[in-house]
Amino acid sequence: MELISFILSYFITKDLSIMTAFICWPSEQALELQRSARVAGVRLTVVSELRHSAPMTTSGYFREAMLLDLNCPDTHFVLEKASRSRVLNKRHSWLLLHNSSAEPALVEDTLYAYEILPDADVVWSSPDSLVDVYKTKPNQPLLQVELGLSRNSSRHELLSLWGALPTAVTRRRDLRNVSLKGISVVTEPDNFKGWADLRNRQIDTFPKFTYPLMMLLAQDLHFRFDLRQVDFYGVSHNGSFDGLVGHLQRREAEVGLASLFMRHDRMQVADFFSETCVLACAFIFRQPSRSAVSNVFLAPFSAGVWGASACVAASAALLLVALRRLRQHTRVSTDLQLFTLLEAVTFVLGSLCQQGFHRTPPVTSVRVVMFSTLLTSLFVFTAYSAKIVAILQTPSTALQTIDDLVRSPMTIGVQDTTYKTVYFLESPEKSTQQLYRHKILPQGERAYHSVVDGIARVRTGFFAFQVEKSSGYDIIKQTFTEREKCSLSEIEAFKPPLVAVPMKKHSGYRELFASRLRWQREVGLMDRARHMWLVSRPRCEAAGTGFVSIGLIDVLPALQVLALGAIMSVVLLAGERGARMLQRQTAHSTPASY
Ligand SMILES: *[C@@H]1O[C@H](CO)[C@@H](O)[C@H](O)[C@H]1NC(C)=O
Ligand SMILES: *[C@@H]1O[C@H](CO)[C@@H](O)[C@H](O)[C@H]1NC(C)=O
Ligand SMILES: *[C@@H]1O[C@H](CO)[C@@H](O)[C@H](O)[C@H]1NC(C)=O
Ligand SMILES: *[C@@H]1O[C@H](CO)[C@@H](O)[C@H](O)[C@H]1NC(C)=O
Repeated sequence: MELISFILSYFITKDLSIMTAFICWPSEQALELQRSARVAGVRLTVVSELRHSAPMTTSGYFREAMLLDLNCPDTHFVLEKASRSRVLNKRHSWLLLHNSSAEPALVEDTLYAYEILPDADVVWSSPDSLVDVYKTKPNQPLLQVELGLSRNSSRHELLSLWGALPTAVTRRRDLRNVSLKGISVVTEPDNFKGWADLRNRQIDTFPKFTYPLMMLLAQDLHFRFDLRQVDFYGVSHNGSFDGLVGHLQRREAEVGLASLFMRHDRMQVADFFSETCVLACAFIFRQPSRSAVSNVFLAPFSAGVWGASACVAASAALLLVALRRLRQHTRVSTDLQLFTLLEAVTFVLGSLCQQGFHRTPPVTSVRVVMFSTLLTSLFVFTAYSAKIVAILQTPSTALQTIDDLVRSPMTIGVQDTTYKTVYFLESPEKSTQQLYRHKILPQGERAYHSVVDGIARVRTGFFAFQVEKSSGYDIIKQTFTEREKCSLSEIEAFKPPLVAVPMKKHSGYRELFASRLRWQREVGLMDRARHMWLVSRPRCEAAGTGFVSIGLIDVLPALQVLALGAIMSVVLLAGERGARMLQRQTAHSTPASY
């Protein structure tokens, strides 16, 4: 039969193989449809009780074909149900059969009550025409587009029609000046001075960043926003959200003009259609100089070089002592001019420190040993001092990982935001959790600062601040000197989720908006907004100019050794005086006892 073969061709050329037919045909005709569907490889469900059809859902893995014969009684039950559960969408391809005409007035009359939005795929089929229908908004007139084929068209003609037909997004880009409800967030209304005010970039960055993109979208798709403004992004209380997400959840607004974290709980109640940027959070701090976290004087050599130097020194000392022994065996008189063990140790230490020795024994073998020891220590010393200068002058990389931060004596602060603790607690990284427990939790509320205060403390040093990077760098650009900018480092503790623009669940504009925002990203409009609103890390312009001045902290170990020596000498002096006094007393008192 001609009608049945047309229906199957229609759906098969659209690559659909699951079909639901709402029909009230005589049984032999319905059987014929089932038989042909089986032959064509289409899984068919026939519903003849239109009044009590099964519930429909928008979710599912496959696209489905829906056939509705408008000549049946009770078709409005099916359309009503489909409209209410938003099944008139992209995933379901509807074919409405009418036995005589596709008069615009008749189509309008039949379908005016239903939500056939721009994402719908609904085609009205009469014996001699095929009409694609949708509307820009509920309660607007239907837009009807003649597709130019009739029921006696061949499969080949259908295929070439689908090939030539632009996508729904391209065909339906003009929303004809309808107004859609939008909702925006301003969390600090007192500090709000307009959407394009670049002075306080760190306040409400993401709504301000998203706003021009959405306005551009409205211009692009030719619609208007009916805007409302709320103070919160939205937090779940027992499953029902407040703020912006709450409005979307209650379906009071179509779309949000802000970028929010795509969190799992929010995705239950709202859809996200386009990620706008990656929001990065990191610990920003000034890298402390290497001497602040470790002893610079031990750093130049590896353990192997230290060991080798010690070996050379020890063998030189032993060799000197051995030479003295040898000399004592052969010539008794000259032993005074040679090194004793203690003298040998003093000589070796002196030569390591480039100090030489007051005596030069007139024995050639000893002189050779002394000469080679002094020469060796010269090379070692040159390398050592050069390396120390290099360490003090190069920018430090002492703290590289979260574990380094946990171990270092740095104070930690966190930007005061709604998600300040959530992502530390949800982080799968052990070291991040450890950082939270050891460094943040003990401080209580004192750990949380505003961006401006936190960055000010970063500037004075020894403070690591967890902050949303672009806000942090914005303040840094305004307050840091060039040299201070060069010492900045960042460590990422966790990856926050992407931020994306939300809209109400199963919105009919989702495809349209998503693809046009993707276009904005591809042509660079989104990058432009990002450059305007999100500050990237300041470049270090002052690197390599001038020398780093050395502070007391850099030579602290040397001072400590000096102080230790001084204390020891005082103690020894006191000991010697004590011993001498004791000796005198015994010398005076001894005669009396006789
Ligand atoms: C179309 O269907 C209606 C109702 O089922 C019927 O009254 C009418 O005669 C049919 N028209 C044609 C051309 O088959
Ligand atoms: C298709 O049907 C129309 C009228 O409905 C007729 O004019 C046309 O000749 C038919 N075409 C073919 C190929 O059968
Ligand atoms: C869109 O509609 C608004 C309000 O009805 C009207 O003021 C405006 O001129 C319209 N714009 C266009 C381009 O038609
Ligand atoms: C949360 O929901 C439960 C059950 O739905 C209810 O018993 C409880 O009172 C609610 N709590 C709040 C704070 O609304």
